[in-house]
Amino acid sequence: MNSSWQLWRDRRGRVSPLRVGTLGLLLFPLAKALVDAQSIVHGARPLNDLIHRAGFWALTFLGVTLAVTPLRRIARYGNLVEVRRMLGVGAFCYIAAHLTLFTADQMFDLGKVVHEISHRWYLIVGGTAWLGLATLAATSTDGIVRRLGGLRWRRLHQAVYVIALLALIHYFQQTKADVTVPVFAASLFLWLFAYRLVAWWQETGELSTLTLLTLSCAVSALTFVGEAAGIGIAFHVSPMRVLDVAFDFSAGIRPGWEVLAAGLVVVAIDFVRARWPGRTPRVRPAPAE
Ligand code: HEM
Repeated sequence: MNSSWQLWRDRRGRVSPLRVGTLGLLLFPLAKALVDAQSIVHGARPLNDLIHRAGFWALTFLGVTLAVTPLRRIARYGNLVEVRRMLGVGAFCYIAAHLTLFTADQMFDLGKVVHEISHRWYLIVGGTAWLGLATLAATSTDGIVRRLGGLRWRRLHQAVYVIALLALIHYFQQTKADVTVPVFAASLFLWLFAYRLVAWWQETGELSTLTLLTLSCAVSALTFVGEAAGIGIAFHVSPMRVLDVAFDFSAGIRPGWEVLAAGLVVVAIDFVRARWPGRTPRVRPAPAE
């Protein structure tokens, strides 16, 4: 048996390359902050820089956590579920750091922290998402999963999609000018949500390669339209002009293309794994973990 703090070991106590890789992934933002330490310290607002980094990585790991279920099915790699909880708790650690850094930026004046959070819309939204994530993290221990029972646990944890939506709104609200990265993030979450919705609607765990291709094209099209409409409304320009720029690659690659590329990679993985020689067993539904 492994000690619970030995995160790199599996349930049988063996060193697991998958767990080691996941730990490396979760620690990457810390290592990057250390490498960038000089520029952070000499920047205009070091604490604000760290707040942004922690928020960005929290959202990223939240997305990676949500990607585990589709990916384990598409790649026919059931073991991936072993690291889902680690990724989710990792996301929460970054979000805890995000709030702690914000508190440090307010000179640890808790009254001011509460006042700020309750008086700014983007912080009310972020704070609500924060409380939701804290609830999911707190109900992720073996004991609580057992006490709640698999079904109730799964129902509670479906709230993660609402939490992700709030986190994305918070991200958009605090973005001052260029919305390229938030739009890309939103489109990836949309893909993940659409995958679940179609799987639920078709009453199947596995979507066919053709369905995955259709879903990726639809999410890409929605991303182009959503971005054009959003920029059109925000900057009072015609959405058609924004759409025209989507095909001008010298002006940068729009998020709609990026999500299409990501979707096509997923389609390619599914196509190859479905025809993989030898046994590619159907992946069983994930346990409540
Ligand atoms: C009480 C809870 C929260 C507080 C006080 C808070 C505070 C902040 C602040 C002050 C910023 C920078 C705004 C600026 O410079 O104008 C920020 C950015 C951000 N926050 Fe939060 N936040 C909270 C919850 C969350 C949650 C739950 C998430 C996601 C899971 C999140 C993700 C982000 C992201 C992605 C950014 C932008 C990062 C970037 O620029 O790349 N925040 N937040």
